[in-house]
Amino acid sequence: MNIVEMKNITKSFGSGLSKVEAIKNVQFTAAGGELLAVVGPSGSGKSTFLEIIGGLLTPDSGILTIDGQNYHDLSGNQMEKMRLDKIGFILQGYNLVPYLTIREQFELVEHIKRTPNMDRSAFAEVLDGLDIDTILDKYPADLSGGQRQRAAIARAIYADPKLILADEPTASLDSQRAFEVMKIFKDLTRLTGKTVIVVTHDTRLEKFVDQIYTITDGILQQGKVKED
Ligand SMILES: Nc1ncnc2c1ncn2[C@@H]1O[C@H](COP(=O)(O)OP(=O)(O)OP(=O)(O)O)[C@@H](O)[C@H]1O
Ligand SMILES: [Mg+2]
Repeated sequence: MNIVEMKNITKSFGSGLSKVEAIKNVQFTAAGGELLAVVGPSGSGKSTFLEIIGGLLTPDSGILTIDGQNYHDLSGNQMEKMRLDKIGFILQGYNLVPYLTIREQFELVEHIKRTPNMDRSAFAEVLDGLDIDTILDKYPADLSGGQRQRAAIARAIYADPKLILADEPTASLDSQRAFEVMKIFKDLTRLTGKTVIVVTHDTRLEKFVDQIYTITDGILQQGKVKED
């Protein structure tokens, strides 16, 4: 079954002369166990696309189904529960809680979520792969951008969601660490059947993914757009 299905999804911001059509008539599906990337330049609609899938933005029109449930039919509470239980969101701005250490950010996940999190030994491997075992007792403000980014990735994975949405997850990382993150995503899709959708302008990541999409001025196309 497809975990994500988007039909004719459109979203605009503003009105009148300042109206911006951020994504236009998007058709998209993602199956279980897939690692997908949507690549496009700044302002092309990547975050808008991902935030609609994650329920952070409501589309103007179109049909969105997540794990067999039409978003349109969900109440605010049901939507919140779906987000918490099924979706791990790695936001472009990391979104760590400033007054909690990295370890406490993970503990917070245990507090707010009722379904089980990742088991300890599997999570220890993720921490090791992301090289953040040494920063667990630090606050976000005391970390580099790359460390914050890796902590945000670990937090999303720890909650053990079916669907991981990652907005520019490698923007602050050097190539080696960026590839390590993609390897972790790939292993998650292969070993646990999760679906990972990465939106990025980083073409270094293309070789890791099962399918690539291109977004240009809000229009999504499957495959790479030919460069001329
Ligand atoms: N809250 C908003 N209000 C008004 N316009 C917005 C808003 N969010 C996005 N936009 C506009 O919608 C378009 C798509 O923005 P979006 O953030 O989705 O792009 P992006 O591909 O994620 O860019 P970046 O790579 O810089 O993160 C842009 O023209 C942007 O200015
Ligand atoms: Mg963005």
